[in-house]
Amino acid sequence: MQVITTKDDFKAAMGAEKAQRRSIGLVPTMGALHDGHISLVRQSRASCDLTAATIFVNPLQFGENEDFGVYPRTLESDLAKLERAGADVAFVPAVADIYPDGFETSLTNSATSRVLCGAHRPGHFDGVLTVVLKLLNMSRCDRAFFGKKDYQQLTLIRRMALDLDVPAEIIGCETVREETGLARSSRNAYLSADDRARAVKLSAALMAMRSRFDAGERDVSQLMLAAAPVTNDPAISLDYLEIRSPDLATRFERSVEGPAVVLIAAKIGSTRLIDNMELGEPAEWVAAA
Ligand code: PAJ
Repeated sequence: MQVITTKDDFKAAMGAEKAQRRSIGLVPTMGALHDGHISLVRQSRASCDLTAATIFVNPLQFGENEDFGVYPRTLESDLAKLERAGADVAFVPAVADIYPDGFETSLTNSATSRVLCGAHRPGHFDGVLTVVLKLLNMSRCDRAFFGKKDYQQLTLIRRMALDLDVPAEIIGCETVREETGLARSSRNAYLSADDRARAVKLSAALMAMRSRFDAGERDVSQLMLAAAPVTNDPAISLDYLEIRSPDLATRFERSVEGPAVVLIAAKIGSTRLIDNMELGEPAEWVAAA
C-alpha cells in the first residue's frame, strides 16, 4: 500500500491511474478505523481496480465546542488495517495542505442540512460537503463509498453529487454493528462500560420499532412507544428520534406512509451517538466479523 501525504502527490498518483484507464474507488474517513470503515474498503475493492482510502480529521465539520482536539488519532494501526484490508493507497494529508492560507470557499446545503443533526450541529454538514467535494475532485474517482450509519450525511452527499453534476457514483453501504447491535463508531471509544450498556439501547429501540413496523403498525405514536427504554432513561439525553421518508424531506408525524427511515441521536455522558434503521426494507445489517 502506498501512503501519500500531500495533495499534489495524491492528484499525480490518481491522474496516472486514470491515464491507465483503471477505475478508482474512494473511501473517505477520519481515521480511528473499525470494521465499518473496513467494510467500505472491501466494497470498493470488489468493484474498482484501485482503492484509495483517505484519513483526514476535517476541522471544518467540527463545531467550536466539539471534539476536534480529542478525536481519536490512531494513524499507525489505521494504516495497518488498511493494508490488511487490501487498500492500494492511503492518503493522509495535513490540514494546511487541504485548507491553505487564503482558503475561502465553502459549500452549503440549504434544506436537508438544516434538520436532524444539522439542527444540532450548525455548519457541520457544510464542512462535510466541502471536504468531500475536494476529495472527489482530487481523486477523480469513479465511485465513492459512504456508510448508511451516517444516513443524513450520505443523503446530503448524494444530493450534492446530483446538484453539482459530480461524475462519481455515490455508493451507500450497510451499517456494521457489534454483536450487541451497537453501530460501530469511532466515538464508541469514548464510552465507559456503563455508557456502552446504555448505548446498546439505541439500536435495540430502533430494532423494536422496526419489528412493530414489520408487524403492520403504521401509527407514529405507537411506533415511538417501542423506544420507551431510550426515551424514559434520564441518563440518555435525546437530540431527536424521528421517522422520515428515505430522502429525509418528509417527517412522518402521525402515520408512516411508504418506506421510511427512523433516525436517532442522543448524548450518553458527553458522547453523542447517532443511529438509524430503514423501515420497509429487508433487515440486512452486517454483524461485525
Ligand atoms: P468517519 O466517521 O470516519 O466515517 C467514514 C465513513 O465510514 C463514512 O462514510 C461513514 O458513514 C462510514 N461508517 C462509519 N461507521 C460505520 C458503520 N458502523 N458501518 C458502516 N459504515 C460506517 O463520516 C466521516 O468520517 C466524515 O464525515 C467524512 C465523510 C470522512 C468527511 O470528513
